[in-house]
Amino acid sequence: MADSEKAGAEELTEGQARARLALLAERLEAANRAYYQDDAPAIDDATYDALKRENAAIEARFPHLKRADSPSDQVGAAPAEGFSKVTHAERMLSLANAFDAGDVAEFVAGIRRYLNIAADAPLAFTAEPKIDGLSLSLRYEKGQLVSAATRGNGEVGENVTANARMIADIPQTLAAAPDILEVRGEVYMSHADFAALNDRQAARGGKTFANPRNAAAGSLRQLDPAITRDRPLRFFAYAWGALSSPLADTQSGAIDRLAALGFRTNPLTARCDGTEAMLAHYAAIEQGRATLGYDIDGVVYKVDDLALQARLGLRSTTPRWAIAHKFPAELAWTRLEAIDIQVGRTGALSPVARLQPVTVGGVVVSNATLHNEDYIAGRDANGQPIRDGKDIRVGDWTQVYRAGDVIPKIADLDLAQRPADATPFVFPTLCPECGSDAVREEGDAVRRCTGGLICPAQAVEKLKHFVSRAAFDIEGLGAKQVEAFHADGWIAEPADIFTLQDRYGSGLQQLKNREGWGEKSAENLFAAIAEKRRIPLNRLIFALGIRHVGEVAAADLARHFGSWDALAATVDAAASAAGAHLAAEAAMLAERRRAADAGTRPDLAAARKTAWDGVADTARAAWEDLTGIDGIGATVAVSLVTTFQQEAERASIDRLVALLDIETVAAPISADSPVAGKTVVFTGSLEKMTRAEAKARAEALGAKVSGSVSARTDLVVAGPGAGSKATKAAELGVETIDEDAWLALIGDA
Ligand code: IVH
Repeated sequence: MADSEKAGAEELTEGQARARLALLAERLEAANRAYYQDDAPAIDDATYDALKRENAAIEARFPHLKRADSPSDQVGAAPAEGFSKVTHAERMLSLANAFDAGDVAEFVAGIRRYLNIAADAPLAFTAEPKIDGLSLSLRYEKGQLVSAATRGNGEVGENVTANARMIADIPQTLAAAPDILEVRGEVYMSHADFAALNDRQAARGGKTFANPRNAAAGSLRQLDPAITRDRPLRFFAYAWGALSSPLADTQSGAIDRLAALGFRTNPLTARCDGTEAMLAHYAAIEQGRATLGYDIDGVVYKVDDLALQARLGLRSTTPRWAIAHKFPAELAWTRLEAIDIQVGRTGALSPVARLQPVTVGGVVVSNATLHNEDYIAGRDANGQPIRDGKDIRVGDWTQVYRAGDVIPKIADLDLAQRPADATPFVFPTLCPECGSDAVREEGDAVRRCTGGLICPAQAVEKLKHFVSRAAFDIEGLGAKQVEAFHADGWIAEPADIFTLQDRYGSGLQQLKNREGWGEKSAENLFAAIAEKRRIPLNRLIFALGIRHVGEVAAADLARHFGSWDALAATVDAAASAAGAHLAAEAAMLAERRRAADAGTRPDLAAARKTAWDGVADTARAAWEDLTGIDGIGATVAVSLVTTFQQEAERASIDRLVALLDIETVAAPISADSPVAGKTVVFTGSLEKMTRAEAKARAEALGAKVSGSVSARTDLVVAGPGAGSKATKAAELGVETIDEDAWLALIGDA
């Protein structure tokens, strides 16, 4: 044992004290982890208490040496990093929303279309309350509860097993369950328990909660399970994840089975045979909402037949077979105090209403979106009046509208209450952040800053997007940290994140001295950054924050090109074609106008041809390759080319790419499927499945689905009525098969 370890606090030199505090922090952290996370205490209580007392005594003598991660600030709690992570065996999904009967009818019609089910053929749904809590996934192995995890980003959640064991509604053991069973549902708090908890908290001088949902989340996400035990949480089961054997053939049957296994399921779950019955059940649930005793925010409809659910499958984060029908928004009146302009990642100038705080449906609202300058002026995108043409002015008495978790809006205003000196709002034509021109292109509702990377607001927003969950998702580097690093000039562009340690890491010294950072968190950050040097191609593409390139387009591009180099080569090669495309669009628009004025027929083909004349074959081929990808249109292609052609922007991307190890995209499911890696085109009408279903199935088997036939096409699946694409395939000698042969090939026949 070193001398400093034996010495009491009063005998330590400053250097010894610093070292001792570091050691104590480490030991106590390890003890906490063992106790709270691993349920396996490493030291006895008396030793633990002695270490904590010693730590406190040293801190009392050397207050300036107190660490950012000081064990004294973690009363009975696990380490500051919080919960360990659990990767969900099957992704936890969210739900698409419907806001009115029309949306519900469209949901049902869309499903019929996708599955090619006639409008009068039977199609059943379940309808049940949408519980306003937080979702939890419980994993049982051989009937024993082995883990519980929050949704997190859907792929990785927080391990809250110890806390879930404290919830009475969650069985610890199950009899006659599948060997592997993941049960999913909602943790929530009843109104009565919420009120009682807040009373207790207030009496103790503790923190009170704004609503039952926050209370439930705060109580489940406690590092100390003893606190969770004292908070009355409840659980409704409504879904499942991985299973070793099916629960039933239908959604309603599966819910009955979960109930038989000992889970609480919602008594208001009904089986409905169509839109009318669904809407009737929605009305009934809404009617009883106030007397339920817990918060719900809508009704969830799910296709009842699980075989159909499987055929419908998933979009990027939501299933096609379910939708949440939200209860109508809530409204409140308040004063508009100011209109601020925020500059987004793509330079969009977004007006934000600053409001006198007002409670709307239990939530305090002080900001609302004003959309764009037309909206403020009282016009819609087509120049038609909205709100009877009333414009919005600072000082106005405004009606705020809030629907679920959507950003509140200004729905209306009361002219009778308008202050006499209120003046129309003048939308800026210069970027308020960098002073560059802010321009509005024809057909665009939004005015955009032209400053690009020199605009600090755009740079920061791009960085925030870059580190966001669906992009690089770097642990410990969130929006707040990025803002601080950017403000201090530590990180100006994404590549800087990956050189941060070289520049400031030695550096640890410098980082750990920043406010909010300690040695441990600095080390963790560098480790988290290093871990993300290896990144899947789709995440990289999405992370670049290119306009019109969202998660789905990024995944389509990654799947099609497979590697960064292939993508970049094609986008570069397509540059002159993108220019021709834009010129052709402009020329055709001009020709349409000319012809309309002259009262003659427009010659669009000629206008188009002139624009494309002289474009090299390689550029045309690259453009066709890009725009031929199902889901990628000219808008995305132009945006990619424009970004890649901007010198400063491109240099910044190249600097980033040089620092990364990009994972090429493998076929998502079976690389050994006969169509993995093949480019397939569907044409003509398909009879056993819809086009959308065929595409999803082919992609799941690792094929790329393209909309047009080229020399790169491997296979054309032609149904009756196939026209020019089948002819082109024949010319190019591309293999062409019919739908039955396709089904036989992929083993679905
Ligand atoms: S089903 C794919 N059913 O709503 C199935 N979700 O907005 C996944 N939720 O993340 C969800 N009540 O946390 C389902 N009866 C219910 C629900 C429900 C509440 C939550 C759930 C989900 C969120 C999506």
